[in-house]
Amino acid sequence: MRGVIVINFGGQYAHLIARRIRDLGIYAEILPYIMAEKEQIEKLNPTAIILSGGPSSVYEPGAPSVGDWIFDLDIPILGICYGFQLIAKKLGGHIVKSRGEYGPTKVKILEKKGIFDGWDEEEIVWMSHSDHISKVPQELSVTALSENGYVAAFRHRKKEIYGVQFHPEVKHTPKGQILLKNFALSISKSERNWSTEAILSTILEELRREVKDCKSILSAVSGGIDSTVATVLVNKVAGDRLTSIFVNHGLLRKNEPEEVLKTLKEMSINPIYVDASDKFLSSLRGVTSCEEKRKIIGELFIKVFIEALEGKEFDCFVQGTLYPDIIESGREPGADRIKSHHNVAGLPEWLEAKVIEPLKFLYKDEVRRIAAELGLPKKLVERHPFPGPGLAVRVIGEVTEEKLRIVREASSIVEEVLREEGLYNEVWQAFAVVGDDKWVGVKGDARVDGYIVTVRIVESEDAMTAGWYRIPYHVLEKISKRITSIIPEVTMVTYSITTKPPSTIEPC
Ligand code: XMP
Repeated sequence: MRGVIVINFGGQYAHLIARRIRDLGIYAEILPYIMAEKEQIEKLNPTAIILSGGPSSVYEPGAPSVGDWIFDLDIPILGICYGFQLIAKKLGGHIVKSRGEYGPTKVKILEKKGIFDGWDEEEIVWMSHSDHISKVPQELSVTALSENGYVAAFRHRKKEIYGVQFHPEVKHTPKGQILLKNFALSISKSERNWSTEAILSTILEELRREVKDCKSILSAVSGGIDSTVATVLVNKVAGDRLTSIFVNHGLLRKNEPEEVLKTLKEMSINPIYVDASDKFLSSLRGVTSCEEKRKIIGELFIKVFIEALEGKEFDCFVQGTLYPDIIESGREPGADRIKSHHNVAGLPEWLEAKVIEPLKFLYKDEVRRIAAELGLPKKLVERHPFPGPGLAVRVIGEVTEEKLRIVREASSIVEEVLREEGLYNEVWQAFAVVGDDKWVGVKGDARVDGYIVTVRIVESEDAMTAGWYRIPYHVLEKISKRITSIIPEVTMVTYSITTKPPSTIEPC
């Protein structure tokens, strides 16, 4: 499909650019800069190119770059942050370290047309840079200045080449989407070709090619939307070459194993069911490090699969990996690793099977739309995301039977109350967390050394950033009361009010 190519220089929010373009109904694809060869780009035949931000400085030796041929492609180019500085440097400009600009910044627009069509003379944008252009090359004309006097935007005098120092892709640049629309629709004349049906048919087409050589495919379903959709899709193209398996690792939510099996059955997926709770829980005994927990769970999953298959070999393995998982696991060249999400970075090295990830370029909301298109049950489509390592990442410190019981019950109460209050679908995720900290309480006439449960309810678009949900007090009170009255070991309930970043959504 023809669309916009985003050349990724490893910026945390680079993927958001593609997402915003897709929000305009235009296909957008991300290409790591090391794959951005001339032949590759010509083959993809994009309608426009966007050069993303990135953590490097353009003047560092070996800094990520692209060839100069990019300027001769005769399609519109937009550089954002690092991409903006890279264009300036390539055309002969100077980039130096500056005081830096972070967060909301005022800019003065000098030319209210082109990418700035629809912008006012003074606007707020989101900046995040510590280098600036100290000498603008001849071929470029400055179109915006920041309140600190730095070049905030430019355009090429003769070609359709633009650059912005700020991030139009983040919501904190209120008119960012207008800018991207101006660039992708008016300037580059891309077609509006990215619909749910189009996504689905592109994925199926790609999947057919990918599984062509697979003799036997294994899919591990968790009952969550990602692995279920991935399995249903592979089932469509691979038929009886696919075996699915559902492992209960003992770290699932309340009643989850029964519900998952029921839902899968309704969708004509009959997985091999393995209850390996004891194995997982004993392997986690004494383990307190988050990364270690993830690695143990990831490895054990594969061992359990192999055991359950009783000698039946598989050469392809399906994963419901989403695009944010890939970014956060540092699989994109240049990106820093944040957490090893077990379904990507935690796969053991000895696993030789080819990994099939049909959803790896999609965001959760796109997967939800596909799930609805495929006719999957509403309950599954709307279900909150749940991490592969399950409650193990919601227990801080060692995973004990007691803490697991507390977190399972408390999380179920959080979800239950939100459903009662009609708020469940308003939020991205809602759950409880427990650690080892205690709080003295009085229950009946006795003093109790009870656990502290933290309730975390977040709003997010794609889990890359998240805000804490401004929950009405009466709902919070209902949650708190129900937790302390139903779970005897809990004496204190707290509410998490930290955004991501600086925090992450899960505690571990
Ligand atoms: P964090 O905690 O990194 O989470 O802000 C972002 C999103 O990813 C989910 N998550 C995971 N999913 N394996 C998964 O499959 C994991 O190890 C994992 N850790 C976090 C999390 O629930 C949130 O939606």
